[in-house]
Order: sequence, then C-alpha cells, then structure tokens
Amino acid sequence: RSKRPAGAPDRKLARPVTKVGVVGAGLMAGQLALLFARQLKVPVVLTDIDQARVNKGVNYVHAEVDKLLARKRISADAANRTKALVSGSVSKEAFADADFVIEAVFEELNVKKQVFAELEAVVSEDCILATNTSSLSVTAMAADLKHPERLVGFHFFNPVAVMPLLEIVRAPHTDDAVLATAFDLARTLKKTGVLVKDAAAFVVNRILLRLMGEVTAAFDEGTPADVADTALKPMGLPMTPFTLLAMVGLPVAQHVQESLHAAFGDRFPVSANLHKLIDNGVKGLWEEGPDGSRS
Ligand code: CAA
Repeated sequence: RSKRPAGAPDRKLARPVTKVGVVGAGLMAGQLALLFARQLKVPVVLTDIDQARVNKGVNYVHAEVDKLLARKRISADAANRTKALVSGSVSKEAFADADFVIEAVFEELNVKKQVFAELEAVVSEDCILATNTSSLSVTAMAADLKHPERLVGFHFFNPVAVMPLLEIVRAPHTDDAVLATAFDLARTLKKTGVLVKDAAAFVVNRILLRLMGEVTAAFDEGTPADVADTALKPMGLPMTPFTLLAMVGLPVAQHVQESLHAAFGDRFPVSANLHKLIDNGVKGLWEEGPDGSRS
C-alpha cells in the first residue's frame, strides 16, 4: 500500500471521474487534454471561443499522439483510442455531463472568474472545477462561486507529458471529497501530487522565479540572453533559463513575475524587457531552427 501524500484526505472519499472538460484550447490545454485522454482513458472535451481555436487544440492532440506512435511509445490501438476520446466544442454546454472541468485560459483573475461563472451555469452539482493557474489566488477565484467547495488548484508544469510534479491547491472552502479526487486523479495521471498553500505562485514558481528574476535582471542590465544562457549551462540545469522562458511563453512568465512582485516586492523584480518583448509581439525569445540554431 502506498503512503498517503501529506495533507491528502482518505482516498475512499475520492469520486469517480468519467468525463473531463478542458476550457481553453491553447498549448497548456492541449497538453492537458492529451494527458487525461491517455492516462485516465475517459472522454475529454476541449472548448474555446471559436471553432478555429477548438480545431487547433484537437489537431494538436492528434499530432502529439501521432508522434508518440511514430516513436513506438504507444500501440496503434492506444493511439486510435486516445484520439477518439478527445473532442472539441465552442459551447460549454458540452460539459453538462462532465465530472471534472479544468480551465487553462489566459492568466487573468477576472477572465478565470468569468469562466467559472459560466461553468457553474452548465455543469452538474457534483462537478469538480479546477484551475491550472500558475500564480493567481485560488481563494479569489472561488469568492463568487455558488459552490466554492468544488474548486481546487491543479497546477501542471511544462512540458506536461514529462514533468512529474502537480501542485494541488486547497482553497478555504475546498471540501475533502474534492481534494481526495484531485489526489486520486494525480495518481492515475502518473503525477506526484503535492499539497501547497494558496500563496502567490505556490511553491515551485516562487523558487524558480528567484533565479529567473536575477537572470532577467542581468538581461535588463545589458547581458545578452545567449551569454547568460551559456554561462549557466555548466550548472547542470535541465534547460537553460531563456530556453525555459521561451517554452513557458513570455506572457505567462510576466504574469508570474507580476504576481510575485505584488506579493513580495523587490525580491521578485518584474523585467522591463519582458514587457518590451511582449509589446512587440515576440512570443518566444528566439526561433529555434531544426539544427538547434537560434535566430
Ligand atoms: N512534449 C512532450 N514530450 C516531451 C517534450 C514536450 N515538449 N519535450 C521532451 N519530451 C520528452 C521526449 O520526447 C523524451 O521522451 P522519451 O523518453 O519517451 O523519448 C523525454 O521527454 C526526454 O526528452 P529529451 O531526451 O529530448 O530531452 P531532455 O533530457 O532535455 O528532457 C525536459 C527534456 C524533460 C523537458 C528537460 O529539458 C527539462 O526538465 N526541462 C525543464 C522543464 C521545466 O523546468 N519545466 C517547468 C517550467 S515552469 C512551468 O511550467 C510552470 C509555470 O506555471 C509557468
């Protein structure tokens, strides 16, 4: 018998999850849909604001499954089954019979609160609502819910398929059955669920951003990104800081910096260059060529 994770309620309280909803069809949402379909093996429906985005999300999942198949990581049967489990819709009505709906929309409190208000109008009484926020307050997100006891933070890391950790956030009203279900799901998804306090950027990003804050400060002061990256390579990091920034995406990184700055002040500086790069529409810091070259 495996040990119960610290702070996790009795597993017997966990409720079954037979259909999952994912709000948003962006990169994080697509990765979540793939993970749930592949590991939990239940129908997963993705929604977004228009059909083009929905199609992009579903196509992403199909393409990732094809890559796994090409690398012989899954059988042809499993590939077909996984693809068939994932569908898309522009309407949240598609979540009417879901037991667990997770949002991975824009990292803005009011946007997330609006999503949850819309969800509560369509989901069943027992449906669990989860947020993949990386830095916002789960407590604040629950404030206007009719059923705040059903909300839980469920924070994955990029790339979702390979990063083993899952931060599970309990808000003041989250009930034990919801939390037990979150831990049970983490197990089924083959992730290590850890209970973290609802504090700005939780635990991992708070630690990571101390390093990233210094790296982006050096960049702001004139050290070129590739010099900072090269200097840090011998430290044995799995990914150098700017590669990590490019993968996470500048807007998300900026939101995390801002949340931490608001909570802890100058210990967490907000990089002026991230603003500049975002204002100029630069999504990643550079494009990586097929040979690893950067432009
Ligand atoms: N999607 C799916 N699978 C991926 C992947 C991706 N984007 N990138 C790598 N993989 C898979 C590879 O296919 C490979 O799988 P197989 O063993 O089945 O072939 C496996 O991961 C290992 O990959 P590689 O050998 O190519 O590369 P690696 O040894 O450099 O590992 C890595 C890749 C695991 C991503 C590693 O570079 C790493 O750990 N990077 C740091 C990632 C990190 O810190 N993430 C946290 C970001 S912060 C965040 O997400 C929080 C937030 O809220 C903002």
